[in-house]
Amino acid sequence: MIKTMCSTLLVAILLLTTSHSYANAVSADNIARGKQLWQQKFNGKAPYQQRSCETCHGNNLSKAGKHIRTKKLIKPMALSANSARYTEAKKVQKWFYRNCKWTMGKTCSKQQQADILAYLKSL
Ligand code: HEC
Repeated sequence: MIKTMCSTLLVAILLLTTSHSYANAVSADNIARGKQLWQQKFNGKAPYQQRSCETCHGNNLSKAGKHIRTKKLIKPMALSANSARYTEAKKVQKWFYRNCKWTMGKTCSKQQQADILAYLKSL
């Protein structure tokens, strides 16, 4: 009886842990899609006709970027270079909203955001 209970419990724990890690799994596909989106160029209004996430964040994400309009420095986006990144959900949401609109002319889907985050966190 106790033995059966124990093995049932064990199976339950195993199922829980596997489904949990599956839900959080980041695949190479996510990272590749995020990178592609990050580098993709979109058309915008003058004087910034060609826009991408790199327009302000630069193409070396371990280094600071520079805001195209205000010229202010933007700290590195690579998680390995800036551990304060992506720690505040509200901040992440706010900037995804703002920057996707400015860069792509539309908001990013949840999947696109997850892919971009997977890419930035992999760096
Ligand atoms: C016009 C300039 C500009 C462009 C283009 C831009 N960003 Fe940003 N981004 C900023 C600024 C400014 C901040 C806030 C300062 C900071 O976090 O260092 C920021 C912050 C962020 C953050 C918040 C990071 C955190 O620590 O929570 C995310 C996510 C982000 N940007 C994603 C993007 C994505 C995705 C694109 C392309 C679709 C993009 N950005 C394009 C200027 C820009």
